[in-house]
Amino acid sequence: MLEFAVRLAKKAGDFLNAHLRDEVKVEHKGRIDLVTNMDRKVQSVIVDEIERAFGDHNIVAEEGVDKKSSSLYTWIIDPIDGTTNFIHHIPVFCVSIAVMKAGMPFIGVCYNPLSGELFHAQEGRGAYRNGKRVFVSPTECLIDSLVATGFPYKQDNLAAIVSRFSRVLGKARGIRRFGSAELDLCYVASGAFDAFWEEGLKPWDMAAGVTILKEAGGLVTSIDGGAFDLYRGDILASNARVHEELLGCM
Ligand code: IPD
Ligand code: CA
Ligand code: CA
Repeated sequence: MLEFAVRLAKKAGDFLNAHLRDEVKVEHKGRIDLVTNMDRKVQSVIVDEIERAFGDHNIVAEEGVDKKSSSLYTWIIDPIDGTTNFIHHIPVFCVSIAVMKAGMPFIGVCYNPLSGELFHAQEGRGAYRNGKRVFVSPTECLIDSLVATGFPYKQDNLAAIVSRFSRVLGKARGIRRFGSAELDLCYVASGAFDAFWEEGLKPWDMAAGVTILKEAGGLVTSIDGGAFDLYRGDILASNARVHEELLGCM
């Protein structure tokens, strides 16, 4: 299943790369929540191949697929995580494919076709970037940390988001907003970022990245320090060492 997921992410990402300069049709799912014909095209290729290979598995994909069965396995797909970047030709987006087994992280694959970075992990087998094992950073304090975040499409809680942002800004080395939650998690896994937080996310924005981060030695909770729930939307992810300090800013 892991090899299949890696092959599929590469195929989908390379397709996006090949069609990068084609005319992209943009539609609004919300005021600033966008989808393109490429998201839909790539998703249908991914979902068709999974259905052909694992016909009895559950499949959830961002652009309107929710296939339920009694299988232990659930595929969670974001055909393009970082759609806004994709539309604006900013080379920070990925194809994200995850498999949960009995509701627990099992496989995660994120592929950015423009940087050529492919992150993968399987439960109990470690996390990898282009085939080389990765680990979270050894950073101990927030003042030495580069922290990533993102902003939700639903903007009904902006004051709370801005105050959290400002508290972290006052305590960390810096904050980055790259525009792909899955890649943010991969960069915490590989030690580039020391931590990441966001709220208002969907399962397909996090499922692969959380699996990769856990296998790299990271810690994931909700932003109030409680157990992480893929379906709740908020996440605080770190190298484990700066977790408490970042929680204190939430
Ligand atoms: C978005 C990205 C972004 C995050 C948004 C997500 P999309 O996913 O992960 O970084 O801030 O909340 O919805 O829409 O590009 O698939
Ligand atoms: Ca996404
Ligand atoms: Ca998406």
